[in-house]
Amino acid sequence: METQVTEIAPDIYRLSTYIPDADFMFNQFLVDAEEPLLFHCGLRALFPLVSEAVGRVTPVERLGWITFGHVEADECGSLNEWVAAAPRAKVAHGATGCLVSVNDLSDRQPVPLDDGEVIDLGGKRVRRLETPHVPHGWDAGLLYEETTGTLLCGDLFTAIGDAPALTEREIVGPALAAEDVFGATCLTAGTAPAMRRLADLEPTTLGLMHGPAYAGDCGTALRELATGYAERFARSQDG
Ligand SMILES: [Fe+2]
Ligand SMILES: [Fe+2]
Repeated sequence: METQVTEIAPDIYRLSTYIPDADFMFNQFLVDAEEPLLFHCGLRALFPLVSEAVGRVTPVERLGWITFGHVEADECGSLNEWVAAAPRAKVAHGATGCLVSVNDLSDRQPVPLDDGEVIDLGGKRVRRLETPHVPHGWDAGLLYEETTGTLLCGDLFTAIGDAPALTEREIVGPALAAEDVFGATCLTAGTAPAMRRLADLEPTTLGLMHGPAYAGDCGTALRELATGYAERFARSQDG
């Protein structure tokens, strides 16, 4: 196994590890700036591969921020390995998630972020967007990099299989197929409206945790995925 590094937008790097036995990939994102930021830490078992991959872009000890979408092993399993390797890095998470989990889980006291709060990284600006239960988890949120219009969208559009680093081929069909296998998304009456609010950002690029980065019409893709979820939620209400 190896971790591939691809720049998907200026100074935004996708670190991608495909696991053949599972036919599934795990990606992390490095936003390189005066204070480089890592968005989702990855599984603890992948820390040696992923930290080596970060080091191809910038020394790990330069990391300024470590943050993630929600508490789950592929989001923050290696959090404390990163904390130990990056002595200056601040840990950040949504305020709810800090209270519920991360104040306890993290070896470094986390910085609680409010919905819409922006971190100025020096050359890049990331905005925390709270999305409770979208795609899953009370503490769920996503990260939007304002200068490039890149939405780091975590588990949204999760697909099975290997994928290119960056694509304009449609990503909604594979995501709905995976949803029908995994049932990973918390489908409620609020799911599609929350996703349409993300679509209104009209991102230029989507950074998926489990799939290719997407450089097509991101707003339309988010609205189509929202519709797919809304249809599944409606069906779940029947009978
Ligand atoms: Fe997740
Ligand atoms: Fe994930």
